[in-house]
Amino acid sequence: MEKTVVVSVVANGITLITLNRPEAANALSIQMLSELREAIAACKFDPSVRCVLITGAGEKIFCAGADLKERAGMDLSQVRKTVSLIRESINELEALPQPVIAALNGVALGGGMELALACDIRIASETAKFGLTETSLGIIPGAGGTQRLPRLLGKGRAKELIFTARRVDAREAREIGLIEYVTPEDSLLDKALSIANQIVLNAPIAIAQAKFAIDKGMNVDLSTGLSIEQNAYELTIPTKDRLEGIQAFKEKRPPVFIGE
Ligand code: COA
Repeated sequence: MEKTVVVSVVANGITLITLNRPEAANALSIQMLSELREAIAACKFDPSVRCVLITGAGEKIFCAGADLKERAGMDLSQVRKTVSLIRESINELEALPQPVIAALNGVALGGGMELALACDIRIASETAKFGLTETSLGIIPGAGGTQRLPRLLGKGRAKELIFTARRVDAREAREIGLIEYVTPEDSLLDKALSIANQIVLNAPIAIAQAKFAIDKGMNVDLSTGLSIEQNAYELTIPTKDRLEGIQAFKEKRPPVFIGE
């Protein structure tokens, strides 16, 4: 059977995950979710992976969310199981210690947008469109959309988008802070790679701890967040990379970090 998720090393330390069902709008089938989880687990335990990019095959669509054709034939318990699988896959992507950059090559709807929301940085091509369309299908965003969208955009804007199921274009998405950059279609991957290339020069343990402190700290009061930061900092103190950073500064050369 053809791979629905393709994993490739695109540069030193940078892994690209491509959702690969262009004939089905890269929708999240059970097979794709299982392959996506395998890809995520492989990155999680591979110290050579320092940054992950995720994109969709084809020019028009990043991911159209849950596979609605597959869903149509399911009984209630199968629906629950599949929604849970989408939820878990997306949570696992967010929990990766490495930064994850979404290179949004086109439309991201429903679960596709929820997948993008779980990434650390979002870049989209000019033709991309975004929407949490679930309420127009009689359901609600079930893989983090009702939680991650208000945290990113604020409660009012998130409610407007979820209640109306409205689709926003890339320009508006940039204006409201849903994505960080908009690029012409043909320079999307270059832009994602240029950010990833800067990230991989920095110390992997420091990056992982910074990600952890930001993600965990955003959801608690400031005083707890500052304690999380302090603990995360503590983990960087005994590292070889911290000493290398100081040494390289002294010797006026770029540091070489090994992730230890
Ligand atoms: N699940 C399964 N198949 C899907 C799909 C989904 N979520 N979204 C699109 N497809 C399929 C289409 O049925 C079509 O297959 P077909 O050629 O066998 O009919 C193929 O992907 C291409 O889609 P099409 O609608 O012809 O392309 P388009 O470029 O005009 O529009 C979308 C693409 C994604 C904008 C449109 O298909 C759409 O709005 N899909 C619904 C997405 C959605 O609401 N997802 C939320 C799920 S919670």
